[in-house]
Amino acid sequence: MEIRLIRQQDAAALSRFYIDNAEHLQPWEPLRAADYHSVAAWTARLREGEQDQVEGRGAYFAGLHADTGEIIGVCSLSNIVRGAFQACHMGYAVGLAHQGQGRMKAICRRAIQYAFGELALHRIMANYMPRNERSAQLLRSLGFAREGLAKRYLLINGRWEDHILTSLVNAECH
Ligand SMILES: CC(C)(COP(=O)(O)OP(=O)(O)OC[C@H]1O[C@@H](n2cnc3c(N)ncnc32)[C@H](O)[C@@H]1OP(=O)(O)O)[C@@H](O)C(=O)NCCC(=O)NCCS
Repeated sequence: MEIRLIRQQDAAALSRFYIDNAEHLQPWEPLRAADYHSVAAWTARLREGEQDQVEGRGAYFAGLHADTGEIIGVCSLSNIVRGAFQACHMGYAVGLAHQGQGRMKAICRRAIQYAFGELALHRIMANYMPRNERSAQLLRSLGFAREGLAKRYLLINGRWEDHILTSLVNAECH
């Protein structure tokens, strides 16, 4: 698996990833307009995403099949706040066919390295719904610490869902 920042040329592969995994991801994602995952929509989003990456406002990693270029999983760093906070949110998803094989963990590890390295951030926040046991296990194994429970935190699949808040702090920051 190749792990790298996403580029303009990944629009078709990302569109395919989300369309193929629609049923798998639906319970954990906001409701989207019908054309949200079209190649055209991804092309437009990637244009902005690449600019964000150049200007340090976000970073979007993908794990790709080394031969076919198929997207295996994605991990994003967004909502970067500087000043006294130096923090971001991390979001992630892996294709159903690749779940439970340590692939997601490898992609997240690369994003974490980038957040604490290139982006010099101090804190990464990641939140999950209490019933998302796979997400809980993944964050635990990456070293994220539970910080609390936020009631009716995000509008997921059409409902305001409670979320467990966790974070990982860069121990080398002073
Ligand atoms: C949440 C989600 C990303 C977790 O993905 P995942 O594939 O289970 O994550 P991992 O890659 O770490 O695999 C987890 C477990 O797989 C097993 N695993 C790890 N490496 C493995 C390997 N080489 N071979 C076989 N199994 C392995 C382990 O049990 C591992 O946990 P551990 O490292 O603590 O032992 C995935 O279920 C998903 O995409 N869900 C839908 C979207 C979603 O919920 N996103 C998050 C919203 S908060």
